[in-house]
Amino acid sequence: MMSMKIITIVGARPQFIKAATVSRWLRRPEFNDIQEKIIHTGQHYDFNLSAAFFKELDIPEPTYNLGVGSGRHGQQTGMIMARLEKVLEKERPNWILLYGDTNSTLAGALVAAKAAIPIAHVEAGLRSFRRGMPEEVNRIVTDRLSDLLFAPTLTAVNHLRREGRVEGVHRVGDVMYDNFLYFRDRINSSEDIKSYSLEAGHYILVTVHREENTNVAGMLKTIMEGLDKISRRIPVVFPMHPRTLKALKKRGLNIPKKIQIIEPVTYTQMLRLIIGAAAVATDSGGLQKEAFFASVPCVTLREETEWVETLEKGWNRLVPPANVDAAGIEEALLTALNFSKNTVKYDHYGSGDAAPRILEVFKNIR
Ligand code: UD1
Repeated sequence: MMSMKIITIVGARPQFIKAATVSRWLRRPEFNDIQEKIIHTGQHYDFNLSAAFFKELDIPEPTYNLGVGSGRHGQQTGMIMARLEKVLEKERPNWILLYGDTNSTLAGALVAAKAAIPIAHVEAGLRSFRRGMPEEVNRIVTDRLSDLLFAPTLTAVNHLRREGRVEGVHRVGDVMYDNFLYFRDRINSSEDIKSYSLEAGHYILVTVHREENTNVAGMLKTIMEGLDKISRRIPVVFPMHPRTLKALKKRGLNIPKKIQIIEPVTYTQMLRLIIGAAAVATDSGGLQKEAFFASVPCVTLREETEWVETLEKGWNRLVPPANVDAAGIEEALLTALNFSKNTVKYDHYGSGDAAPRILEVFKNIR
């Protein structure tokens, strides 16, 4: 193979986690023909949403940081595009590597496509079938413009097929599963859990950050009231995304006394919190799956999930805050707490070798 230059574009927390796996493999001798440069769009900039991940996951320092920060969707996406265009003109990579479904992903796809740089998309083919969701728009456009589509699951492959995409589609498994296995074997301390005064197997872990839950009046209120109810029975720990904290303040919602709100945590802190939890309640895609990998029952505070495999046998259950009241959330969490961890669970997310499989595909490109 001739040497190849890949530019990876990341910007938001889940992308750092996904890119870490592939970057780790890229540094191995068998892939030393592939040179990677990282562009950080600056979409996430708080230390504990960004730099903490680069440090802990040993991700190489980005060659560029576009420093775009927060903004409305059009403004944020547009600003990334304008700045990215200049960098790509200078770098002229052989490939652009994109992850997931954030505004950074979308901007990367649009700029690369217009510059006629081939695009590879990791986590291709996911669909929520809800157009109003910003991530859904980002996924559809990115997949449409991508030349290589790395699908994590059979479901994702089938979505792409239905949209007429077969060529360039590779079912490689989920890079998040690679990462889970890699780090699970390297974290055996339960220090974090103790430092939050939690007891393994006796607390609920919560995260909420989706626009549909934070920006719609009433949703956050129902969620917080439901958590308040359950927190009288079992401890609740809630690492809070900055936008959720802002939304609570804006709506004048009080944080129930018994809920332990903490700062966003690092990747391995989160893994420990998941592994030790009796149940998880979340609207995050990544966390739903990590709970599933760790065999911890999950309640998903959304109307639908892209990770439908987790719903099988009841490991994960959809509880849309729009359709229930606080008692409904409490009840769903009680059901999750009583869920038997001996329930059968299928392997849908590959074998933990998605990253090397992705890189093999690049190696075989002539
Ligand atoms: C983005 C992704 C979402 C992903 C999430 C992970 C899009 C459309 N959404 O959502 O898919 O699940 O990242 O976190 O790209 N903020 C800070 N500090 C930061 C970053 C954000 O305080 O470092 C606050 C700001 O108030 C900002 C808000 O969070 O306006 C939203 O940030 P943004 O990057 O636009 O979207 P996320 O909600 O993080």
